[in-house]
Amino acid sequence: MVRIGIVTVSDRSSRGEREDLSGPAIREWAEGKGYAVEEETVVPDEYDAIVEALTGFCEKGLSLVCTTGGTGFAPRDVTPEATLAVIERSAPGFSEVMRMRSLAVTPHAMLSRAVAGIRGSTLIINLPGSPKAVKENLQFIEAAIPHAIDLLRDNVSDCGSVE
Ligand code: MTE
Repeated sequence: MVRIGIVTVSDRSSRGEREDLSGPAIREWAEGKGYAVEEETVVPDEYDAIVEALTGFCEKGLSLVCTTGGTGFAPRDVTPEATLAVIERSAPGFSEVMRMRSLAVTPHAMLSRAVAGIRGSTLIINLPGSPKAVKENLQFIEAAIPHAIDLLRDNVSDCGSVE
């Protein structure tokens, strides 16, 4: 079973000043795929809070942790830095594809500094901070997620047999 964690990174949502719509957009996508959303949290744009949330979710052995928000150029956007501190191996293909395909949607895709990587057997993927961007980017990468998770679980005997 694919077990998902969602970390919304937003100062305003963490203070209850803005409804978090991006976390629920990830949940909707996950449930549509039949994945189990086991953990969800909203944290401020604080390096330590993001590191703590990501580390805690990885310790639970989740298959995939998606973050949303804090990947841009604003002074408090530190989600990529916190993610880089947590991951043990990088998985640049996800962020490469997201930026490349998002450029067909908006030139602002260049402003996302999102990263992706692996800690233990958990894949962590940064997504931008709007529900629209979340939906678009998940659509761009969703085809590779099941195989990525199988590989991390050592569930694949022959990579070539998978489309
Ligand atoms: N990617 C897609 N597919 N669609 C979008 O609307 N918004 C962009 C970009 N990536 C966007 C997108 C914008 S406006 C910014 S500033 C960056 O993601 C970073 O967003 P973040 O700071 O909310 O993480």
